[in-house]
Amino acid sequence: MTASASVTAARSAATPDIVSFDVRRSSTPSPPERRREILSAPGFGKFFTDHLARMTWTPGQGWHHACVEPYGPITLDPSAAVLHYAQEIFEGMKAYRHDDGSVWSFRPTANAARFARSAERLALPVLPEQAFLASIESLVRTDVEWVPTGGETSLYLRPFMFASESFLGVRPAAEVTFMVIASPAGAYFSGGVRPVSIWLSQHFSRAAAGGTGEAKCGGNYAASLSAQAEATAHGCDQVCFLDAQSHRWVEELGGMNLFFVHDDGSVVTPELTGSILRGVTRDSLITLLRDEGRTVTERRFDIAEWRDGAASGTIREVFACGTAAVVTPVGRLVEPDAEHVAGGGETGPVTAAVRRRLLDIQYGRADDVHGWLHRLA
Ligand code: COI
Repeated sequence: MTASASVTAARSAATPDIVSFDVRRSSTPSPPERRREILSAPGFGKFFTDHLARMTWTPGQGWHHACVEPYGPITLDPSAAVLHYAQEIFEGMKAYRHDDGSVWSFRPTANAARFARSAERLALPVLPEQAFLASIESLVRTDVEWVPTGGETSLYLRPFMFASESFLGVRPAAEVTFMVIASPAGAYFSGGVRPVSIWLSQHFSRAAAGGTGEAKCGGNYAASLSAQAEATAHGCDQVCFLDAQSHRWVEELGGMNLFFVHDDGSVVTPELTGSILRGVTRDSLITLLRDEGRTVTERRFDIAEWRDGAASGTIREVFACGTAAVVTPVGRLVEPDAEHVAGGGETGPVTAAVRRRLLDIQYGRADDVHGWLHRLA
C-alpha cells in the first residue's frame, strides 16, 4: 500500500458506531424571554442556541469523544492547520417545526452523503452517516425550544469539520474536529422573499475543473467574496459565476444553484460538471418539477441564452435555490453596460408554485411522497 493509500484507508476506516452523544447542559442558558425575543425576529446566522455538538478524530482512535456541550468560543492553537491551509468543510440544513409541535429535518442523509464526498475531496476523515445523524438529533433534542414556530422560520443547522492539529507541514491533518452549531433562521435575504439582482462576475471564477467546486468547503466561499463585494458595489444582491475556462457557461451564484423556466414550461438547470455544488435543494426541485409533469434538463447553459432568452421572452422565469435561501426569484442580471430582465423581473408562477410545494413538504403540510422527512424531536 502506498503512503497516500494508507492515509485514505485510515480516513475512511469504519468507526465504532456512534449512536449516543454525552450531553452536558449549559448552566447559563439564555433566559426564556431573551430566547423568545430572538425567535420573534431571528434574521439569518446571527444568533446561536445554547449548545453545540462535537466529536474528535485521530488516526489512532477514529471518531471519538461525541458530546453535546454548552455553546461558546473554542480554543485553537495558532498553528492549527485549518487557519493556514483551509482544510475545512461544512453543510447547511434546517430543522422545521410542524403544526403539531414535532421537529423534522429534510433529506439529512443527502447532506451526510455530500459531507462524506466533501471530506474525501479535502482529505478529511469521512464521518459515518449514522454519526452525522446522531449529532444532529442530539443537538436539536437538547435545544428543541430554539426551533421557531410560524412563517418560514426554522433552526438552521451548520455541521462542519476542520483540521485542528497544530502543525505547519502541508499534509492531511492528524487531528480533526467535527461540530454542529444551530441558529434560528428567518429569510436569508434581508427584506424577505423578493426578486434578487445578480451581478455577472466579469473576471473572477469560483471553481475550475479538477478543483474543489463540487465540495462544500469554506475555501469556495472565500474565493467568491471579492466577486460578491463587486456585486454589492454595483447594487446587486448576489454574484453569478461562469465556468473558469471559457467564461461562457453559467455555473452558480455565490451560494445557490440556478434554474431557468422557458416559455414552453420546460426548465433547465446547469448540469453538475464537477465545479458546481451538488445542491440538495437543487436535486429536490428537479424531482418536484418533474412531478408536475415538466421537462427538466440538466445541461450546460450558455450565458448568451440567458441574455437572449430574457430579451426575446423565451426565458420566462429565473430562480436560485439553496438550503438557506430556499427558492429565491431572480429579478435582474446586471453587467457593466447591460441589464437583462426575464418575465418582467417579478416572481413567476412556476417559481412561486415549486417554492410553495417544497415548503409544504418541509413544514408537513403536504404528503411526503418521496420519504424526505426525518423526525428529530
Ligand atoms: C446553504 O444554503 O445552506 C448554504 O450553505 C449557502 C450559504 C448560506 C453558505
